Amino acid sequence: MHRSIYCGAISLDNLDENVTICGWVDRRRDHGGVIFIDLRDRKGIVQVVFDGDSGEHFADADRVRSEYVLQVTGKVRARTAGTVNPLMSTGEIEIYGMCLEILNHAETPPFQLDEYVTVSEEIRLKYRYMDLRRPEMQKALFLRSKVTQSIRSYLGKHEFLDIETPIMTRATPEGARDYLIPSRTYPGQFFAMPQSPQLFKQMLMVAGCDRYYQIAKCFRDEDLRADRQPEFTQIDVEASFVNEFDVISFSEEMIKEIFSDHMGVDLGVFPKISYAEAIERFGSDKPDLRIPLELVEIKDLLVDIEFRVFSAPANDPDCRIAAMKVSGGCDMSRKKIDEYTEFVGIYGAKGLAWIKVNSVKQGMDGFQSPIIKFLGEKVTLDIMERLSVEDGDIVFFGADKSSVVSEALGALRNRIGREYNLYSHSWAPVWVVDFPMFEKLEEGGFNALHHPFTAPVCSVEQIIDAPQDALSRAYDIVLNGFELGGGSIRIHDPLMQSAVFGVLGISPKEQREKFGFLLDALKFGAPPHGGIALGLDRMLMLMLGAESIRDVIAFPKTQSASCLLTDAPSSVESEQLKELGVRLRNVGG
Ligand code: AMO
Ligand code: AMP
Repeated sequence: MHRSIYCGAISLDNLDENVTICGWVDRRRDHGGVIFIDLRDRKGIVQVVFDGDSGEHFADADRVRSEYVLQVTGKVRARTAGTVNPLMSTGEIEIYGMCLEILNHAETPPFQLDEYVTVSEEIRLKYRYMDLRRPEMQKALFLRSKVTQSIRSYLGKHEFLDIETPIMTRATPEGARDYLIPSRTYPGQFFAMPQSPQLFKQMLMVAGCDRYYQIAKCFRDEDLRADRQPEFTQIDVEASFVNEFDVISFSEEMIKEIFSDHMGVDLGVFPKISYAEAIERFGSDKPDLRIPLELVEIKDLLVDIEFRVFSAPANDPDCRIAAMKVSGGCDMSRKKIDEYTEFVGIYGAKGLAWIKVNSVKQGMDGFQSPIIKFLGEKVTLDIMERLSVEDGDIVFFGADKSSVVSEALGALRNRIGREYNLYSHSWAPVWVVDFPMFEKLEEGGFNALHHPFTAPVCSVEQIIDAPQDALSRAYDIVLNGFELGGGSIRIHDPLMQSAVFGVLGISPKEQREKFGFLLDALKFGAPPHGGIALGLDRMLMLMLGAESIRDVIAFPKTQSASCLLTDAPSSVESEQLKELGVRLRNVGG
């Protein structure tokens, strides 16, 4: 077989050349005596024409059906004026077919590739090899390959070593459930698949590798969403003798280079904001800075009013009251407001008070709202002044536990931004810094906001005395409201590591059992070090404007973490279980 060129690569430059192409029948049209075959390969589609002069090959052309695999030899010729197709990259030419060989037949496809929008994702995933033939999916796989190539080249140039770390390992805490692998040689014992290579990359720093990277598979058994997969890929990086500015600076440069090389986009200098400011102004630690809406604190104005909905939280230190102005939102319908009220309910908000500003000049008469009668004139006017409202605005309010208000209004901010297309620009990267070390759990105790190996900005004594006040040396990179990556400077002092484990409620015995190797390694000359991991799938999803992370992964899992193509997970022979020392409980009744 001698393919001379890809279907999608042929242009007027190849005029009058004889070419041999191989590919799949995208469409076949019979115009009585002339047969048009659109032949498709990885690079695109080209039109092939057979007519009465094609002899025996005309009969073959007549027989082919969608998705047959063909090899065609023919001559490149210009399309006649009027038949040029500006929508096709090969639309100015066609191949006059001289020879056609059917390399394989295909049964009627489970779906027409150009009608994929109307087929369920289940069908697309079950016949993934068909779905991947679509030009859009080919484009995603192509870009993914090019981007990883750029990453390797960037990091290689900066002396990062590509080092593989184990998939069969022990639990690596990143806050999700582990996928476990039973051991045959140690019955009753299990390997865990890594949630990230975190501890191994730290071991490599102790080992003197200085700069490491890996395009690493990570495994997390957690609730799935459009931007989460149980098995996903990180661009995982770690370096010794660096501080947060170094890591932020080389990661930023790499991300900028990728966007510039592959998208022609200049992301500019990434702004930095603190975690506290992100929550206060945008209600989220991954704010979408394309949206020009902000939360404004008004708690202080409401301490003395009668209206319980606001006065109770105004006097509770764990609560916040925030207002969010939507310019020009005054004509929102009652139905829309009810929809938003229901929406914030998902986040625990008990209501969504609002004020429409019909006319600022008219004072109280110019406002329309279910709550101003409870607020009274002074408070209403004070709020409106703080928000600098103008005629035509609407203001929404949240009053509740601080986390509920931030999450509810933060999510509403994203939704309104999307629904009213308020995006002020296409790309808005931002570094979020100065995270707290811990979050307080409702049931008591603390949780690590990043992970337990992140260094705090304080002493061992301070972390033990006042863990809630400690900030960490962690940083997240957020793009258009998605957490693209996160990292931190790590703890390299075993005493500090033990103290942090202690705050997290891990007893000295448990520390030894689970993290003894880390605590030991930190005693044998661990250099100061830090790093970051970027979600490769998420980055590609954003670059391609894909709805779901599944669209940038060749063989993704479904929302319920199964593979429809291979039908995994599946049951196994009882013999195999016996060997592994595993006995099943009566699962699923
Ligand atoms: P973290 O848990 O923040 O950090 O993960 C880093 C990045 O990985 C991506 N990501 C995911 N992508 C798809 N599906 C998932 N289920 C998923 N979970 C995470 C996100 C996220 O920002 N070891 C640390 C990094 C470090 O400290 O260096 C870690 O794993 O884009
Ligand atoms: P109610 O007095 O409960 O009818 O509420 C009056 C208005 O306040 C309605 O528009 C509610 O949606 C709104 N509201 C009630 N609870 C809250 C809350 N916790 N935060 C914001 N708005 C609320």
